[in-house]
Amino acid sequence: MNAHAASPSSAASPRAPLALLAELTHRCPLSCPYCSNPVELTAREAELDTDGWADVFRQAADLGVLQLHLSGGEPASRRDLEDLVAAARDAGLYVNLITSGIGLTRKRLEALDAAGVDHVQLSLQGVGPAMADRIGHYRGSFTRKMEVAGWVADLGLPLTLNAVMHRHNFKDLPETLDLALDLGARRIEVATVQFHGWAATNRAALMPTREQAREASRLVLEAREKLKGRMVIDYVPADHHARFPKACMGGWGSTGLNVTPEGLVLPCHAAQTIPGLEFWSVADHPLAEIWTDSPAFRAYRGTDWMQEPCSSCERKLVDFGGCRCQALALAGDAAATDPVCSRSDRHADLVAAIDAEADAPAPEFVWRVAPR
Ligand code: SF4
Ligand code: FES
Repeated sequence: MNAHAASPSSAASPRAPLALLAELTHRCPLSCPYCSNPVELTAREAELDTDGWADVFRQAADLGVLQLHLSGGEPASRRDLEDLVAAARDAGLYVNLITSGIGLTRKRLEALDAAGVDHVQLSLQGVGPAMADRIGHYRGSFTRKMEVAGWVADLGLPLTLNAVMHRHNFKDLPETLDLALDLGARRIEVATVQFHGWAATNRAALMPTREQAREASRLVLEAREKLKGRMVIDYVPADHHARFPKACMGGWGSTGLNVTPEGLVLPCHAAQTIPGLEFWSVADHPLAEIWTDSPAFRAYRGTDWMQEPCSSCERKLVDFGGCRCQALALAGDAAATDPVCSRSDRHADLVAAIDAEADAPAPEFVWRVAPR
């Protein structure tokens, strides 16, 4: 038997996905320069309605999905968020609310808790108003986030902080960890900025230096040891400075699916940047059929699509050739080896370019304006 066909990541027989990320809306009060939403945003009128999402959640649970991430944009921009949470809970899903906190009130959070939210993931743009309000491009956002974190703690909901790190705030990493502890977070994601969606526009403005990336890895290792049993630190290192890429999405079409505000089902949040992929909609196909058979999910599932050096590499089932969207963005070919891999023949040029960007003065941010 072909080893790829027997693999859990096989294109022919995918295992059930573990998680579904529901991009409920692209509307958002913040304007972060590293927004991972697509450059073309979906208008409010095109969003799935409450029943449409409830149907997606039931189908996801039937398919074997365990975790639902309610995301955006800002999910609190949806007036029916409480109904959506209740529908997800009725379907038997574990419900994680990914929020900036803006748009939540104490009363609303209580209603969401009553509707069945299991966990809150709050974004943190900085450890004080100066950085947080600047990055979110929203005055008062830091104060509101701190309030929301307090309400989450009062309600006894588990809290994860999501801190996106870049050249402007890496210096605050120790304070970021301290703040997470003070807020009672059980987990913090220290995620070096990823250059998808709008973030690619601001790459030079956000790219950390090699020294910052090295120091962050050292600090995280040290803090993990010190905080064992108190707080978990998930760490997304700066992959541009690593030897090998990450297994983006755990391998294409292997563990999760994303549903856009209008109901298109994507293998990852940036998949629409890849030209020629055909995405199926929940309006036209059952979710199970989309997962198994849709052209977009089959395109890079498993390893048969790989080119050299990935196709004969001993790590191909470890990192699946890295990120398809990054390969497209950097190499112009989504099936190419991700250029952040040191075995890619484009790697040296990429490293030279990012070192030059990181060492040059940071240009101004190009702000995105999302529909509100
Ligand atoms: Fe991963 Fe491909 Fe690099 Fe091998 S050559 S380490 S499979 S990205
Ligand atoms: Fe699309 Fe990595 S973001 S595969």
